[in-house]
Amino acid sequence: MSIRFLEEEKIFWLDTKNTTYLMAILGEEGFLGHLYYGKKLKGVSGATSLARVTEPPFLPEKNDRDRSSFFDAFPFEYSSNGVGDFRESSLKIRTMEGHDGVSLFYVSHEIYRGKKKLEGLPATFGAEDEVTTLVVTMKDPVIGMAVELSYSVFETTDVIARSVKVINASDKTFCLEKVMSLCMDLEGKDADVLTLHGSWARERRMERKTLGHGRYSISSLRGESSHQEHPFMALMAKNADQTSGDVYGFHFVYSGNFLAQAERNQFGQIRVVMGINPEEFSWKLEPGESFQAPEVIITYSAHGLGGMTRSYHDLYRKHLIRSPWLHKKRPILINNWEATYFDFTAEKIVDIARESAKLGIEMLVLDDGWFGNRFDDNRSLGDWQVNEEKIKGGMGKLAEEINALGMKFGLWFEPEMISPESKLYKEHPDWAIQIPGRRACRARNQYVLDLSRREVRDYVLSQVFAVLHGANIEYVKWDMNRPLTDLGSADLPADRQGELYHRFVLGTYEMQERLLQEFPNLLLENCSGGGGRFDPGMLYYSPQIWCSDDTDAIERLAIQEGTALLYPLCCMGAHVSVCPNHTVGRTTPFATRGMVALSGTFGYELDVTKLSEEDKAAVPKQVRAYHAFNDLIREGQYYRCASSLESRDYDCYQVCDEAGEKSLVFFTQVLATPNLRSRCIPLQGLKEDANYKVWQISLEGEELLTDAGKVINGGVLMNAGLILERPWGDFQSSLIYLEKVN
Ligand code: GLA
Repeated sequence: MSIRFLEEEKIFWLDTKNTTYLMAILGEEGFLGHLYYGKKLKGVSGATSLARVTEPPFLPEKNDRDRSSFFDAFPFEYSSNGVGDFRESSLKIRTMEGHDGVSLFYVSHEIYRGKKKLEGLPATFGAEDEVTTLVVTMKDPVIGMAVELSYSVFETTDVIARSVKVINASDKTFCLEKVMSLCMDLEGKDADVLTLHGSWARERRMERKTLGHGRYSISSLRGESSHQEHPFMALMAKNADQTSGDVYGFHFVYSGNFLAQAERNQFGQIRVVMGINPEEFSWKLEPGESFQAPEVIITYSAHGLGGMTRSYHDLYRKHLIRSPWLHKKRPILINNWEATYFDFTAEKIVDIARESAKLGIEMLVLDDGWFGNRFDDNRSLGDWQVNEEKIKGGMGKLAEEINALGMKFGLWFEPEMISPESKLYKEHPDWAIQIPGRRACRARNQYVLDLSRREVRDYVLSQVFAVLHGANIEYVKWDMNRPLTDLGSADLPADRQGELYHRFVLGTYEMQERLLQEFPNLLLENCSGGGGRFDPGMLYYSPQIWCSDDTDAIERLAIQEGTALLYPLCCMGAHVSVCPNHTVGRTTPFATRGMVALSGTFGYELDVTKLSEEDKAAVPKQVRAYHAFNDLIREGQYYRCASSLESRDYDCYQVCDEAGEKSLVFFTQVLATPNLRSRCIPLQGLKEDANYKVWQISLEGEELLTDAGKVINGGVLMNAGLILERPWGDFQSSLIYLEKVN
């Protein structure tokens, strides 16, 4: 059993394949203290001493005059508020009398095989032989509030999913003002904090900095997980790198406002908290009601970032993504957005499809602009009726024409939005989120729908369903193109307005759930102005998410590196587009664009009828490579070998099969440098005692594989490296295939 309770020591002992997590019930009052998280332990004798209650200030039962000193240093499993711990609190509850002190003590616990669903929320799941759960019930004896701390241990994937449920076990109403999903107190170590920051078209860039004294936090108040900060944080030993050193990862399974914070206190101890952003949050909890907070996935790796990455990849592939598409090759799609923007007709779309079908592309996705009066991005969101001026004969006919070419058909929606200039807004202005008397802030000239309201969700879904039932649509791109502002719901009472941000997220989740129930085989791709809502929450609903509106191959190296730090390549939406690139104006080789897109879901986002003959001729070659290698890319283990972000002039990563017998090496030279020798790049994921034949993959030539004339030992490749010649010119790439020969 991966979870045990040692009665005598009162220790909860949680084990995964390579890690151990320990906490203990301490003192007569029943404090729950964090003892250890790290490399797997064989025995825990003496572990309770890690809570340091035998040294001053001791437990309050021994030294009550210094209770506040105890509170301010004890490694709490879930911190209190307002009663002496001056570090970040985990929970804030306002009583009817206006007080907000809360302090939790152990009451009981339960250990069971499997993992229960988190009501209304996306969450990891697993069978009884894959995951074991511990629920510790804590209680504040004064206000009568109970809290269930859940720990679900995924043994083979080396992760623990933590979540929190607050239960009002009293006969009074409370207002929750803060419920963190995770609090973890670690012994003071020198540590760096790694986060992912970004912007539109520049998502998920890695940033590493020293954690000094005080608090370092990242957050979102945009109503979505956001382009700007990602709901992820890692604490890393100073010497940790891709392959070695201690790394603790924390990743929040939620798509709305969040807070992630690391704090180093006066004693050098580190507290990490993660959860729904308490700013702009409140939740009224009537007697008997409960509040379920989303979960945080924690992992510890003794093998640097690479170990952390592969644990997350493994978990998300096995225990988060539910789609029937997960292990299937996704149809190679062509999306018309960068090809036409709003300027298209059904004829034009069919022209693109016809040409694409000849080249081996398998699905046409019609993006924004097919509904209402949507001739530009100023109007019609909410009016999900086909514009027959553009789509003569309707969507059913267009889908049939595309299907007749042997292609699937997919469609874009933005269901959470409403344009002020729309039929829907004329009929239901109160359906938009806004504050009465205040002109709501527009973004892309649109407002956000109040999805806390059942009738709004029902209406929008009925419109979406009508379109999907009226045509053979096998893929949906679900977009969300603005953040939330002016939080006001015409439906919620005054004392529940603070619930709107979270209710909006719950509403979105519920809509996606219902969409998938109605169309179980639908291939859903989430999107938010590119990658503004690329998070584990959305992954529960869609097996792939559009990574970024920036399709430039070189920008994508960094974006996809940051994304692949946490997410398997099979969920990163990546397309080949034209040059000069529409976002940065850069011109890169068609083969490099192909190679970068092949490391994601793979597709095209261009007008194939306007491609040069040379590029057009390369499309079937890229398609051939996709079919040959997508199984490996989709299911394989990911290794980062070199990063262009670390002031290197090249980028290199690998995908290996589980057995370490096959590997693809993706190499891109960013800028060429004169008069240097060839590069030697140490590889990973192979077998030291096996030999590998080296093949060069061509995304342009007649043959897919060319024998590079080398057989190299795995130990040589991993310890010394693979010699790669310097390509001629900027932005050149090389794709290499290694296969075990004995
Ligand atoms: C967002 C998406 C794009 C495209 C446009 C359409 O920006 O990220 O891919 O769908 O919306 O308006």
